[in-house]
Amino acid sequence: MAKALIVYASLTGTTKGIAELLAEELRDLKVEVLVEECTEVYPKEFIENDICVMATYTYGSDGSLPEEAEDFFYELEEVNLKGKVFGVLGSGDLIYEKFCPSVNDFDKQFEKTNAIRGTENLKINLDPDEADKQKIKQFAKNLVNAYSKNK
Ligand SMILES: Cc1cc2nc3c(=O)[nH]c(=O)nc-3n(C[C@H](O)[C@H](O)[C@H](O)COP(=O)(O)O)c2cc1C
Repeated sequence: MAKALIVYASLTGTTKGIAELLAEELRDLKVEVLVEECTEVYPKEFIENDICVMATYTYGSDGSLPEEAEDFFYELEEVNLKGKVFGVLGSGDLIYEKFCPSVNDFDKQFEKTNAIRGTENLKINLDPDEADKQKIKQFAKNLVNAYSKNK
């Protein structure tokens, strides 16, 4: 059985909810899933998993990373995740000049780990609507397909 770790940063709960929706979709696909808040885990814990996911919101006047996710972000590039599949998703607000830039930032950070991108980044405007929920379902399927091809 494939194992996934979903790490999230969430100030007001939206991204946490997205992480939990993704966990349900992955569990439906028979993946063993853990969901952890970013201050509660170290990036090296991805090594014990096959599928590595970061779910993040964006904050600050210039589209900054969530402050509490910074340590996790910088430690991530030190970890070798060769052979793993990764995906990044998150919540933002289209009212801001840059929409969900933290999702792109984490995607770039994962590239440095040698992990394989299992699916395109998924950016959700505020709370997920029905269309977004379908995209989360597809995101889960893409990750599992990439894992199956890669193992
Ligand atoms: C001060 C502040 C700055 C924000 N900056 C951005 C931003 O630059 N880009 C963006 O897409 N969303 C931005 N957001 C929106 C949040 O990322 C969005 O509300 C998200 O759903 C919050 O997720 P959470 O409930 O998991 O904390 C900002 C929100 C606040 C309060």
